[in-house]
This record gives sequence, C-alpha cells and structure tokens, in this order.
Amino acid sequence: MITAGVDVGTSGTKILAMDEHGKVLKIVMRDYPLYQSGVESEQHPDDWWEQTADGLRELTAAVPNIAAVSFSGQMHGLVVLDAEDKVIRRAILWNDQRTTAQCDYLNNVVGREKLLENVANIALTGFTLPKILWMKEHEPELFARIKKVMLPKDYIAYKLSGQFATDESDASGTLLLDVQKREWSQTMLEIAGLKQEQLPKLYKSSAAVGKVTAAAAKLTGLSEDTIVVIGGGDQAVGAVGTGTVSAGMCSLSLGTSGVVFAATDKFAVDRAASAVHSFCHANGAYHMMGVTLGAAASTKWWIEDVLNVTDYNSEQTAIKPENLGNNSVYYLPYLSGERTPINDPFARGAFVGMATYTSRADMTLAILEGVAYSLRDNLEAIKKLGVSFSSARIIGGGAKSALWCQITANVLNLRVDKINSAEGPAFGAAILAAVGAGAYPTVEEACSKLIAVTQSYKPDSAAVQRYEKRYPIYNKLYKDLAESFGKISAG
Ligand code: XUL
Repeated sequence: MITAGVDVGTSGTKILAMDEHGKVLKIVMRDYPLYQSGVESEQHPDDWWEQTADGLRELTAAVPNIAAVSFSGQMHGLVVLDAEDKVIRRAILWNDQRTTAQCDYLNNVVGREKLLENVANIALTGFTLPKILWMKEHEPELFARIKKVMLPKDYIAYKLSGQFATDESDASGTLLLDVQKREWSQTMLEIAGLKQEQLPKLYKSSAAVGKVTAAAAKLTGLSEDTIVVIGGGDQAVGAVGTGTVSAGMCSLSLGTSGVVFAATDKFAVDRAASAVHSFCHANGAYHMMGVTLGAAASTKWWIEDVLNVTDYNSEQTAIKPENLGNNSVYYLPYLSGERTPINDPFARGAFVGMATYTSRADMTLAILEGVAYSLRDNLEAIKKLGVSFSSARIIGGGAKSALWCQITANVLNLRVDKINSAEGPAFGAAILAAVGAGAYPTVEEACSKLIAVTQSYKPDSAAVQRYEKRYPIYNKLYKDLAESFGKISAG
C-alpha cells in the first residue's frame, strides 16, 4: 500500500509518498508567503491549499496509486470560514505574539487554576483561544461572520474531503479541548463566545474521516477512492515519525523552534504553570512538551543574517572539541520571546561573557550551547512532572550537525539517537495514513516496523561535568535580565 503524508508547515508544505515498508518514493516541496510585521505573523489558508494541491499533482503524476493521505500541521493557527465556506481573514499563526492582553485576561482574570482544570494548559500567546478573543475584540464584524473555526491542516483535510474534522493532538493546542476527557470544553467555548457546531468533529489522529471529493480529485490527481486520515499537530506527528510513541520515550527537535517531547500513558498537568504543554498524542495516549522558540532560528540568524555566510559546516568545524563546556560566552536564544519554562514573550536574545580574546567560533559555539541549555530547561520542567526517560531521538534541521547532537547529549546528560528517517512530520503523517487505511493495526506497531536507531551520541562524562557547572549560570542569566528585557520591549 502506498500512502502520502502532507506537512503543512510555516515555511512551506512537504508532501511525501511512502510504501508500507517505510520506503520514501517521492518528496515534493512547495512554499507560500508568510506575512510578518511587528508582533504579527499570518498566512493565507488558500495559499496552503493551492500549493498543497499543486504539490499533490506533482506527487500523483510520479506515484499515481495513493491509497490514503494524512496530515501534519503547524499547530494553533486560527483559520475562520464564513457561511459560504470562504476564508474570512488570513490565519493568525502559532508564532504571532499579538495576544499578550488576551493571555493576561485568561491567566489572571479567568485564572490559571480554571484553565488547568478545564483544558490542562495555561494561556500562551501562540495558542488559538487568545487569537479568537483578539478577533472578537478587534474585528467584531469579522468575528460575527464566523461559521467554522479550524486548524491549518484541518483546512486542507476539509478542502480534500469536505469533512469538517480535527484530531485530538492538534485540538489540544487550542485551549478549547478538555485534554483529559478528549472533548470540547463547554466552559471554554462560553469564554470564547463560540458554539460547539462552529468547531470541527473530533477524531483520533489515525482515523479515516472520508474520501477525496470529485472536485479535489480533479485538482490533485488523487483518486476518489483515496482515504483521508485526519492526522495531527506537527509535534505529535513528528514524534510518530521518530517512533516516539511509547511511555518513557522522548524526542528532541532542533527545528526553527526546539522541542522536548515526552510520550506518556498518564495524563498529567503542570501545576507549577511553567508552560509545559499537556496534550493528547497522535497514538491515542498523551504527551508532555516543552518548546523553546529560537533553536535553529538562532543559528540561521547568526550564520545567515549576522555573519552573512551560507556554510554552516565551516563555521562549526572552527570549533575545537576541547572547547565544549569551556566557553566563557553564554547565549540566550530568546530571539522571539520564549515559551517553556519562562513563558515570556518579551524575553530577547543575549550574548554574555565576551572578552578581547573571544573568537567567532566561541560565539558560534555559545549559540549551539545556549539552545542546548534551553532544551535542558524544558527537560527539567518535564521531569518535575514525574516523567522520566533514558534516551531521546533527535530530529530537525539542526540534528544534521553531529557537533550539535553531541553538545545536546552532553548538556542534557542523555543519550541522543538518530534514526533511519529524517523526514519527520511528513513521514509521521504517511504512517498515520497507513494505520488509518488498515495497513497496520496500531501506530505503535507501524513505528516498531518502520523506524530504527542508526546512530547514538553518548554523553561524554568530562564534558557533562563542565556543563553541569555552567548550566546554573545560564539559568540565572535570564532571571538577572528579565526586568531589562521588559523595559527594552516597552521601548
Ligand atoms: C507547537 C508549535 C510549533 C508549531 C509550528 O506547539 O507551536 O511547533 O506547530 O511548527
């Protein structure tokens, strides 16, 4: 059986076809505009659809017999449709920071306790409900026209199948889902000013929701028999793509943002309110997740925008191995504010500790180390919830760097494994499609057949000790600078 996985990402859409043995047959990429200004970050859902349909046309021309298709989507984005099924406004994305006032209202007036009790998470600027409240306040005429609210990948599933559907993993990031009960929260719907019929029907991520409509078949080259499996949020589906689907397993992502993702059987809530996300997993269980916003975004900024070069590798080969954990320069990766655990949209990046002898390589190393420290912050916050693990699987563009993988293993004091697939969420989506179409009975079984560890980075004990001494220094720097960050962003 051949299945397709579509990852509706922020920088573009990635579509792949896979056979039931996990062999990737073809990959197609398409991109679309990102509209960013100040704190705002938006994309047009019709751009996602046009490019995905175009990409699917290229895919099906080469691989015609696709039995099922599923999705991974950038999470939290607010997609709103009117009574004619027209997109009302551009989608407000996960990395948009305009909703600080709405988050203050939710966390402090509605109250963190009430949020944790009803939807298991506190309000963060990236999440969907604050965006809905923003629209209600700032665009009341548009808000009044809303007939359907959905998430980015749900729009693509809707255009392909005509089914108004979502899944539990993606819905977890809306602040409208009772994560423990896996149903829409009536309390939060009232706060949002929405009725349940404006929200999609909830499914498990590997559920078949319908088939490709005649109109979509014509546009994409898929057959009308192709099964549409709803899929999930990119973090949960990316974790499926790494095989992180059993309790005790953990994955790390060094993408634009960095993620620590822990699979768990038990539902747990971060009562310390350090912004550890407690979400449904795409395998039907749960997961805990911490997100640091500036991971590969930091290396990209430093290498491409500041140093104005393109060769990441030669910047990193200038770093001497004995300097790992001996660097006097520290870097805080908060270029776009930070989520877990500090939850501060006003935090900013910083280099601290330079001297006249500091080299370009020391600064580059500080960035790799700073991102690893921020992953460690996330790991510690998750561990406090009683979740433990002995190794982690690493993915994302940054994981191509052996040096960064080793630094991460040292700073986290955790074995870091690479796996046989680097395709992440699109691969996870193709696995969910295979499960939804019956090629495998469960997500776990599909993952155990298709995914294997290919390389391990073990923590180096001498470097671990050096990093143990340095991590508290890194950790205190934010606390020392937090007040100034607030003043800087106030202007
Ligand atoms: C997850 C998150 C990002 C987006 C974009 O909470 O905000 O991973 O899904 O990829």
